[in-house]
Amino acid sequence: MIEIKNLVKKFDSFTAVNNLNLTVDSGEIFGFLGPNGAGKTTTVKMIAGIMFPTLGEIIVDGINVSKNPYEAKKKIAYIPDEPFVYPNLTAREFLRLIADIYEIDRKQADKSIEEYLSKFELLDRADKLLGSFSHGMKQKVMVAGVLMRNPKVILFDEPTVGLDPKSVKNFKEMIVSQTKKGVSVFMCTHILEMAEKICGRVGIIYEGKMVSCGPVEEILRVKNKNSLEDAFLEFTK
Ligand SMILES: Nc1ncnc2c1ncn2[C@@H]1O[C@H](COP(=O)(O)OP(=O)(O)OP(=O)(O)O)[C@@H](O)[C@H]1O
Ligand SMILES: [Mg+2]
Repeated sequence: MIEIKNLVKKFDSFTAVNNLNLTVDSGEIFGFLGPNGAGKTTTVKMIAGIMFPTLGEIIVDGINVSKNPYEAKKKIAYIPDEPFVYPNLTAREFLRLIADIYEIDRKQADKSIEEYLSKFELLDRADKLLGSFSHGMKQKVMVAGVLMRNPKVILFDEPTVGLDPKSVKNFKEMIVSQTKKGVSVFMCTHILEMAEKICGRVGIIYEGKMVSCGPVEEILRVKNKNSLEDAFLEFTK
């Protein structure tokens, strides 16, 4: 579903992403791990088509993201680390706007909006301005906006930052249920325990280079460690 080939991103002479190669299958949850500044957000922005690679290419569901961004973006949903919402729209208005942009049938959209607002316990806030929402509430509205679109690929950058424990649990269940429908999830995270629990494979990026990639058990075996935390620290020494 996602194919990344020889991906390079330079900012002037600094190489933030250095020759990354990776594929993520349909229905797979891929965890992208790495220390601060390793190149995770830069990579995810290039997959989302909002930052251009210096070299290399990214194919999503057979579509080249740089050459055909409009078509590719219809299949991709991106949730950035800082939730972006229009402060002067209500939650319901914001979700309707997304539904209109992505040409979702109004009736179907209204049904999904109610469903997701209820799932995220935001029904009583549906008609309040987003500017008054907490960080976690904005994040939930963003997630609702993404799921409503039925994307083929979901890109998350630090998805659970600011979510309370119950919402994190909901989030994990929701991610797993998406993959049952064949959705691919690419998730940057610092929460190794979550990566261990829900990701089929993880990749560790360090100074722009992928230093390890595979199922968690394999990564532990390579460094002869019992926990992902210990293996991670070893790979990023
Ligand atoms: N627009 C930019 N201009 C210059 N340098 C940038 C830009 N965006 C990112 N970088 C640099 O690229 C490197 C990778 O940054 P990136 O945001 O991808 O890291 P990250 O792995 O997401 O880190 P974190 O875990 O802190 O979110 C960093 O050194 C960062 O300073
Ligand atoms: Mg980042």
